[in-house]
Amino acid sequence: MSMTIGTDIVSIHRFHEFAQDTNHPVLKKIFTQNELDYCFAKDAVEPHLAARFAGKEATIKALYSRGISDVWYTDIEILNRHDGVPFVKLKKEMYKDLKLEISLAHCEDKALAFVVILGDD
Ligand SMILES: CC(C)(COP(=O)(O)OP(=O)(O)OC[C@H]1O[C@@H](n2cnc3c(N)ncnc32)[C@H](O)[C@@H]1OP(=O)(O)O)[C@@H](O)C(=O)NCCC(=O)NCCS
Repeated sequence: MSMTIGTDIVSIHRFHEFAQDTNHPVLKKIFTQNELDYCFAKDAVEPHLAARFAGKEATIKALYSRGISDVWYTDIEILNRHDGVPFVKLKKEMYKDLKLEISLAHCEDKALAFVVILGDD
């Protein structure tokens, strides 16, 4: 069993202009529709977009540490269980055996994420 980790921190204000329009082309390049539905259902959209962006960057870092570099933002989907706990899925079939764990947080101006990936190799 091997383990890799990734982390990222993001300024929430970077997402202000995108938070006005759920169909913004930049959002569509980064987020899945399920993620956008979650964020745009919130009163304050930006922190949730920023946290998911940090989560994707953290996932990409944890994947790089395993030598994996062919995963794009929309291949990574970060959603929440009914109790609020976030989870991350890789939408690429070839990486389905990896087990990912994620934690997100946001405050007034920053969002951050930690990701752990466990593999059988
Ligand atoms: C869940 C909790 C820890 C979140 O902390 P917070 O300071 O409000 O918010 P943070 O910015 O640190 O984190 C927010 C993120 O935490 C994650 N989260 C939400 N609920 C969670 C939970 N139960 N467990 C783990 N992570 C959770 C989400 O990813 C959320 O961001 P998102 O909505 O963009 O996905 C907090 O709301 C809490 O303590 N709730 C009470 C828990 C409870 O039921 N206690 C009862 C026993 S005393």
